[in-house]
Amino acid sequence: MTTSKAIRIDRHGGPEEMQLVQVQVGEPGPGEIRIRHKAIGLNFIDVYQRSGLYQLPMPLQLGMEASGIVEAVGAGVTHLAVGDRAAYASQPPGSYSEVRVMPAKNVCKLPDGIDFETGAAMMLKGLTAQYLLKKTLPQGGLQRGDHVLFHAAAGGVGLIACQWARALGLQLIGTAGSPEKCQLALEHGAAHAIDYKREDFLARVKEITGGKGVKVVYDSIGKDTFEKSLDCLQPFGLMASFGNASGAVPPFAPGVLGAKGSLYLTRATLFTHIATRESTQAMADDLFEVVLRGDVKIRIDQRYPLEQVQQAHRDLEARKTTGCTILTL
Ligand SMILES: NC(=O)c1ccc[n+]([C@@H]2O[C@H](COP(=O)([O-])OP(=O)(O)OC[C@H]3O[C@@H](n4cnc5c(N)ncnc54)[C@H](OP(=O)(O)O)[C@@H]3O)[C@@H](O)[C@H]2O)c1
Repeated sequence: MTTSKAIRIDRHGGPEEMQLVQVQVGEPGPGEIRIRHKAIGLNFIDVYQRSGLYQLPMPLQLGMEASGIVEAVGAGVTHLAVGDRAAYASQPPGSYSEVRVMPAKNVCKLPDGIDFETGAAMMLKGLTAQYLLKKTLPQGGLQRGDHVLFHAAAGGVGLIACQWARALGLQLIGTAGSPEKCQLALEHGAAHAIDYKREDFLARVKEITGGKGVKVVYDSIGKDTFEKSLDCLQPFGLMASFGNASGAVPPFAPGVLGAKGSLYLTRATLFTHIATRESTQAMADDLFEVVLRGDVKIRIDQRYPLEQVQQAHRDLEARKTTGCTILTL
């Protein structure tokens, strides 16, 4: 038996519910590995799982993303070997730890050119940007020059999406909560940036697109932006709702989509896209390629020791962070 530091909650609630504990870690079973983490990624989903917006059984070890070295491999795992450098975005939660046993399916070998901190920061957020921009598309797809609206463009997923959209030739209109964040989005490839705390983003989108609106809105803010985002769409446009940073979108009547121009709506989640080993690896290869080519730089703006995870959550929820955040060991 190995022991590990881990962050655990015994009930849903505020950041203060997260406690540092020592846990026992055993041997991997069939389809599993044991990984010793080098760095851990912080994600907004960790906040939902902690607060109870996403209800999970207790006690719960948090964290969905990390990088490290494979320490033991269970029966049937063929794509990883002891000593491999690896990184993942994966269920179940448990990455806020030094070492863990977990399903191998979503764990990918980390290319030599990508360091552990980058690996820990980029998997969940980068694979999300991948499936949004490459697979969550309007009828007929997206062509170079098309406008899309991407909320929280200076955040973890946001800055990756800005750069990837630029590489794809898209005109990404980013929203962000301060002039400094807007500047950051522009520096990372957004064609336009709107400070949605100070400006009416619907009016600005109409102005930028000459009244036409955008083909897709990528909306991770939820409650505060959902309705107005629908009005930013062209007829037949796609509303890709993928998060709830301001709270969950309340129920609404599908007739609204008809009245606003035969719109499409999806509520997308990464975990459908990485349901198999094959799809995970294909998406990860695509992500590794844009990162190794330098088209997408993974910007780590905050680092907190694992022991200071409460502060990391407070800062993320208070909109004080930009780019990616990692927990260090
Ligand atoms: N469905 C999926 O597959 C999937 C996967 C990954 C992430 N996500 C979602 O994508 C979003 C981004 O994730 P992330 O980890 O990269 O986080 P993040 O973007 O770094 O942080 C969230 C950002 O949301 C903005 N925000 C607006 N209203 C907010 C509010 N009331 N409270 C807190 N933040 C607010 C803030 O930016 P401004 O100050 O600029 O507004 C904040 O920095 C999250 O909503 C997350 O749940 C979804």
